[in-house]
Amino acid sequence: MLFAGGKLCGNPNFAATHQVRDRWRVKLTASSGIEMEISGLDSDGRQFKNADEMWREEVGDSQKKFDWYRNGVGYWQGVEASVEGVLGGYGHVNEPDINSSEAFLNTLLAHLFPNSGRNQHLVALDCGSGIGRVTKNLLIRYFNEVDLLEPVSHFLEAARENLAPENLLVSEDHKAVNFYCTPLQEFTPDAGRYDVIWIQWCIGHLADDDFVSFFKRAKGGLKPGGFFILKENLARSGTGFVLDNEDKSLTRSHAYFKELFSRCGLSIYNMKDQKGFPDELFPVRMYALTTETPRRAGSSRPKRQSNRPGLIK
Ligand SMILES: C[S@@+](CC[C@H](N)C(=O)[O-])C[C@H]1O[C@@H](n2cnc3c(N)ncnc32)[C@H](O)[C@@H]1O
Repeated sequence: MLFAGGKLCGNPNFAATHQVRDRWRVKLTASSGIEMEISGLDSDGRQFKNADEMWREEVGDSQKKFDWYRNGVGYWQGVEASVEGVLGGYGHVNEPDINSSEAFLNTLLAHLFPNSGRNQHLVALDCGSGIGRVTKNLLIRYFNEVDLLEPVSHFLEAARENLAPENLLVSEDHKAVNFYCTPLQEFTPDAGRYDVIWIQWCIGHLADDDFVSFFKRAKGGLKPGGFFILKENLARSGTGFVLDNEDKSLTRSHAYFKELFSRCGLSIYNMKDQKGFPDELFPVRMYALTTETPRRAGSSRPKRQSNRPGLIK
């Protein structure tokens, strides 16, 4: 599970009690492709020698893949449409989560957009939006239009209500526009619509192949200079991934994400670790991803060093 007991994390003692010693390694194949050799665990303590072994079992044929997504969405269909519900009983992390996200977003807007995006008509997409928590508390204040994508209909209905103009404290030129009731793996955004595509605590529901094809399609939804923000739990250092058997989601390590970003043709422009969450939760990291190769000498982009997290290399 993503969240403790329930969702924002796994059992805090889980990785320690199931000592995974093999770590991960990335192996160069003869075809010069890169094949992941990342070992991991499931929430019942089973060990997998690599991600392929786990994915074969979970999504290895069309019926299994159908079941994977049905069970993932099915889990959330049984959850109350509230902040407490989407945060797995950790509603009190809402505030530190939003504060850190806002600081990260501000840094990026300042570096990537002229005049920090002020006087521009900005548009964002909130993926796996749940009840619209991130949009309501953050995105709607910075973006003139926000679209929401969420496969669970009672969450999306709650989002529609939460974001109705009479329930918002923003000016009239900031509004939630489109509410898409669909999962990420089936979604293709309108070409060139978004400045920012925000993906928080939902990408773990996607199998690797769908992860890659989603980002490849979604790149076409970005305006020139637009970027992705991915905010996600990380498997603790020494564990390549943790499969949650109950909600059918995967918590990946930084090395695992890096490999997938490279397959998507995305660069990490910046990243920052979430602070101020309870210790028993998985670490959480924010990634800003661009479609451009990072510039080198003389670059004016922020120095990555200052944000480099110490936990996972
Ligand atoms: C932990 S909640 C996070 C909600 C929201 N991003 C937030 O931070 O408040 C996970 C969300 O992912 C959604 N989800 C599950 N499977 C998904 C899929 N295949 N595509 C998109 N979203 C999915 C769930 O319905 C749920 O709303």
